[in-house]
Amino acid sequence: MENKISELRAAAAEAINSAATNLKELENIRVKFLGKKGELTTLLRGMSQLSAEDRPRIGKIVNEARAQIEQLIAEKNSELKAKELQNKIASEKIDVTLPGRKVHCGHLHPLTLTLNRVKEIFIEMGYSVEEGPEVETDYFNFEALNLPKDHPARDMQDSFYITEEILLRTQTSPVQARTMQKNSSNAPIRMIAPGRVYRRDDYDASHSPMFTQVEGLVIDEGITFADLKGTLDYFCKKMFGDSAQIRLRPSFFPFTEPSTEVDVSCVMCHGANDTCKVCHGSGWLEILGAGEVHPKVLQMSGYDPEKVSGFAFGMGIERIAMLTYGIDDLRLFFDNDTRFLNQF
Ligand code: PHE
Repeated sequence: MENKISELRAAAAEAINSAATNLKELENIRVKFLGKKGELTTLLRGMSQLSAEDRPRIGKIVNEARAQIEQLIAEKNSELKAKELQNKIASEKIDVTLPGRKVHCGHLHPLTLTLNRVKEIFIEMGYSVEEGPEVETDYFNFEALNLPKDHPARDMQDSFYITEEILLRTQTSPVQARTMQKNSSNAPIRMIAPGRVYRRDDYDASHSPMFTQVEGLVIDEGITFADLKGTLDYFCKKMFGDSAQIRLRPSFFPFTEPSTEVDVSCVMCHGANDTCKVCHGSGWLEILGAGEVHPKVLQMSGYDPEKVSGFAFGMGIERIAMLTYGIDDLRLFFDNDTRFLNQF
């Protein structure tokens, strides 16, 4: 009996020392020796067969053996726990010197960049920035601009009507009339009005049913066509560089007289390249319509054409952006392809 006990004790110590590499294994060993059906427990049961004199002596040895094994298990347990904690710390360690994950940051759209630059140039010249609604009345979009109902020039701009009297504005020119009428003291005006406009056009490389314009209006005593020309020349040089030139061609708009269309010299090829994607070799690009404000337009919005005169212009921002960045397809602005947008 005594031999058996010391064999068991040695076997348990050996198992605890070498076999137990983790807490689960250690628990299995504990059950194997000390559990209800464990080897030591089974041994204890056999004590009933011992003589009365042997019983206390053997009982003491068994209890010592149990205490020893328990002690070994407890020691091993804390050793393994410490090891596991060590492993956990090692495997969850964060390397703060690793490079961070890149955060992709958005930026302004090329049309917004262009618009901001146009605004900046005119604000520097003392212009205010006005706004008008995109859903506009027939009165402001046409009638107040000297285009009465049935005027043939209404066909120049195919419109999206909502009702007979309400439409999506086809141009930013209604903001001219709105600004004049708001200005009840008839003070001089020097303003620009940027915004979206809508026309029933096909969607192709150079047309879109929605596009962006910047309107300009200056009213004061003694404003002449020369002021218009000087202003536009200054604007184009600021926008496209000092070598940019402008060319005025006679044109017609019902709200200006005389009227002109303005071309800017091609900043891509300077007219030297027949295959230029931007000007197609002509060397010029039309960017705006302009003219002296028609006396009737002044009158209808409460200004006295005998006392004051003015000029107005309307430019296409997509055109200007295409020219600035050398883009040959207007649809790129609206497709929202990040491969395109990332380039700005
Ligand atoms: N509104 C005109 C257009 O959209 C442009 C323009 C504005 C012409 C102001 C003259 C004066 O075509």
